[in-house]
Amino acid sequence: MKKKTNKNLKMPLIEALKKYGDKNSVRFHMPGHKGRERGRIASALRENLYNWDVTEIPGLDDLHQPRGPIKNAQKKLAKLYGADHSFFLLNGATSGVIAMMGAALRPGDEVLISQASHKSILSGLILTGARPVYIMPEVDEKLGVFTQVSPKNIAKAIEANPDVKAVLITNPVYQGFCPDIQGISRVIEDKNIVFLVDEAHGPHFGFSPLLPIGAGHFADAWVQSPHKVLASFTQSAWLHIKGERIDKNRLGYFLQLVTTTSPSYIMMASLDYTRALMEYKGRILTEKALQLAESARRRINKVTPFYCVGPEILGQNGIYDIDLSRLMVNVSQAGYTGYEIDEFLRQRFKIFAEYADFYNVYFLISFLNTKRDIRQLVKALASLRQRSPIGEFKPLLGRIPKKALEPREAFNYSSESILLQASQGRICGQALVLYPPGVPLVMPGEIIEKQHIEILTDLLNSGGACQGVTSGGSIIVLK
Ligand SMILES: Cc1ncc(COP(=O)(O)O)c(C=O)c1O
Repeated sequence: MKKKTNKNLKMPLIEALKKYGDKNSVRFHMPGHKGRERGRIASALRENLYNWDVTEIPGLDDLHQPRGPIKNAQKKLAKLYGADHSFFLLNGATSGVIAMMGAALRPGDEVLISQASHKSILSGLILTGARPVYIMPEVDEKLGVFTQVSPKNIAKAIEANPDVKAVLITNPVYQGFCPDIQGISRVIEDKNIVFLVDEAHGPHFGFSPLLPIGAGHFADAWVQSPHKVLASFTQSAWLHIKGERIDKNRLGYFLQLVTTTSPSYIMMASLDYTRALMEYKGRILTEKALQLAESARRRINKVTPFYCVGPEILGQNGIYDIDLSRLMVNVSQAGYTGYEIDEFLRQRFKIFAEYADFYNVYFLISFLNTKRDIRQLVKALASLRQRSPIGEFKPLLGRIPKKALEPREAFNYSSESILLQASQGRICGQALVLYPPGVPLVMPGEIIEKQHIEILTDLLNSGGACQGVTSGGSIIVLK
């Protein structure tokens, strides 16, 4: 038999990473460190990657019952974010969203959420057995996106559902749009309703007066993904709680349910490092990202055929504030789909956007981006010419789908696979999630309508992606 040499061993993932890790690529996607973090501690982390890759051994504490260095690191984190307690998360903000829902809700409890929430909230619904009360976010028809929920609509929903136990909002949504979080907190104060915030995209909020206000001023529990916009490793995140409404022990228990028993010290070290970095120069770093984004916004609006969204959008469609460190570039009014531009930038210029939808392309800018990155992006976009605007606005879901079963009931029901095109009137068995941004169009237990099939068909035909639809066009429905 022919002897295998190292050369013959195939490692498809390593090969793909080697190809991607090309030094000349320009990254406007997560993680926030952009592959570039070079500080003193980050360099030590890089050099000691294998050396420090340990898990709970004597002297290194216990994530699930911390008494030593993890406890001290989490205490410093809580102090920085004005929390009573903070927790390191090793399974993304996703695990924090599930755990805070688990701490606040019991099976059958009602929780008020936006119809356009991230799929981690769906996981929270299935695992807790809580019942969603949906509210429709507002829509920006020109940009073709959901925007935010308003305090007025939240107040109305609570009036109609007086037993609601918790309100869970997203601050900001992927586009950087923030709701009137103070207004929402006023609506629920004195009502014995727990206020939960998915702040996955806002760990930098509050570090500069130029950024939106953070959830820490109002929420009982809030979750952030420093890996998305700051410098920690992918998958690391943190969760904060404040006040008496969240049972800390139950929260800790829920975190154990959704977390490994072999936590990575590399990831926790990167969280500790990121916290220290933000404590030391959070304002300087966030304002650097804001300045880079502002120069990009100005140039894109001046020398390219595209529209980069800015503060002029405030006050419209429930948008109370905006994170200007991210760029939302509308390309549909210049005659392109977001998918087309995303592909063009990648193939022709090695510029990687965070994601695209039918109408827009999104770029995440962190303090580890450079002026050169911005110049390359503007130059690439400026190489395109104005065309006539693409087709009419295809409506996003205008109303909440009809519910036949709660998400957890649907999850436990027997199911089968059928073609999407033949699914009208069937009950959805596995969420149909527009990905990115990870927002379900139809949830398990909801009835699939003609308009869902049309939206998904248009999306897939124009280059978009949907989790829950196989490459053969099948989906899971209940029997
Ligand atoms: C709004 C929102 N919440 C939660 C999450 C989950 O974050 P993570 O990827 O850190 O688990 C995401 C991920 O993109 C998100 O966009």
